[in-house]
Amino acid sequence: MPDPATRPAWPRPPSLRRRLLTILAVPMVLAWLGSGVLIYVLALHYANVNYDRSLVDSARALERMIRSESGHQELSPQVRILMEYDSADPSYYAVRSHRHGVLASNLDLPLPTPLPTVGARPRLDSIAVGGRRLRMASLAIAADDPADAVIISVAETLRERHALAREILVGTLPIVLLLIAFVLVLVWFGVSRGLRLLDPLTEQIAQRRAHDLSALDPSVVPVEILPLTRTIDALFTRLRDLLDLQERFIADAAHQLRTPLAGLRLQAERALADPRPDSVRDALVHVERLSAGAGRAAGQLLALARAQSLDETGHPAITVDLARLARDYVAERVPDALAQRVDLGYEGPTSGAEIDGDAVMLREALVNLVDNALNYAGEHGSVTVAVTPEMRTVALSVEDSGPGVAEEWWSRLGERFFRPPGSRREGSGLGLAIVRRIADRHRASVGFDRGRDGGLRVTVRFPCRGEAASA
Ligand SMILES: Nc1ncnc2c1ncn2[C@@H]1O[C@H](COP(=O)(O)OP(=O)(O)OP(=O)(O)O)[C@@H](O)[C@H]1O
Ligand SMILES: [Mg+2]
Repeated sequence: MPDPATRPAWPRPPSLRRRLLTILAVPMVLAWLGSGVLIYVLALHYANVNYDRSLVDSARALERMIRSESGHQELSPQVRILMEYDSADPSYYAVRSHRHGVLASNLDLPLPTPLPTVGARPRLDSIAVGGRRLRMASLAIAADDPADAVIISVAETLRERHALAREILVGTLPIVLLLIAFVLVLVWFGVSRGLRLLDPLTEQIAQRRAHDLSALDPSVVPVEILPLTRTIDALFTRLRDLLDLQERFIADAAHQLRTPLAGLRLQAERALADPRPDSVRDALVHVERLSAGAGRAAGQLLALARAQSLDETGHPAITVDLARLARDYVAERVPDALAQRVDLGYEGPTSGAEIDGDAVMLREALVNLVDNALNYAGEHGSVTVAVTPEMRTVALSVEDSGPGVAEEWWSRLGERFFRPPGSRREGSGLGLAIVRRIADRHRASVGFDRGRDGGLRVTVRFPCRGEAASA
């Protein structure tokens, strides 16, 4: 048993549930705190409204008591007790007349400004006395003396209001918290239920046959998942193309190798049937030629497969100097040309014809074009490789002094295995197909015409460096 402490810590796979909960939890806790503030402010507001109302009632009650007292100037001891019975938070009062000053009070309350008028509604003020904040209701009543008025003020601290608001807050906050927890639990289970929407899609994929790469049925795909299934469909399409390519390669390989293999067998049978040294030697010459042909065909097939491989990242596109590449390659092939008594030359700048491309593939194209030209130029013929920088393109052409190809076949040159009738040299018919695929991958065009010496001229036109993307 591996020790849990030494077990490698695999990265946890992403979880929809965890992600949703973290996304929701933070705002929900913030909302909980916000709702706490809101509840407190509202509770305080309603507490104020109610306590103000009862403060006004107290002022009115005091007014009634004063009216019932004789002389309107004295407060009976019963009234005083009634006002001050709550020793922890007593009510404060002050009865003052314009003429006679303070008639009765238990605290030096400030006069309300402006002074209330007789018969008007009681007024409410927030005041501070001795560092304490108080709420005060004041009203005026007519005195015995018509020129005088009595101001009755009743005040209380804000303690009870705040206490009530706090009580409401403490009572409601846990309920809101419970609601939030309930929502998070719902999300936890809701995600599982929601993910069941994917079941039909999972089933559809599970029931597929290995070779079924058709697009997924969009009717069972939830809209939120559509981008994912579209990507899968695109992958299926690429896979289908790749499988087609593979099947074609296998069919081509079988087709290409069957003939030389049959030939080899025939030569072997011939040698066995006639063991004279001359005929054995003759058969061996054929065997050598056939196996060289088969080897070359296999190489061409592989080159074609590489050129049309769907994986665009075989070699990254870099800046390639086509002039330098062609010139160097021509120099490399001069010994071959000399051996075949062909005059091989290069025309064009020594460098500076830059394109974006894959140098390995460009060389492969050049190999096939020069092979063909050397093959068909004929003894004492000539082959010219030319690079011509143009306005927005760079042209690479290879021409020879051979018999060329009749114009009626030009449009078919570059088809896989196509060889014009009467082709004299051996070949698999893949060289120009390889050139065409490589040109396609470089967004280049391939053209055929007659060269200066009457032979075939093949011209591949590449977009200049930086032009390929806009081409
Ligand atoms: N420079 C040329 N002059 C005359 N005919 C040519 C020339 N280049 C190609 N052809 C003709 O086009 C045919 C196709 O050429 P391609 O290079 O595709 O195949 P191949 O040379 O026959 O075989 P491979 O190149 O695969 O070994 C050739 O068989 C030949 O008949
Ligand atoms: Mg060829």
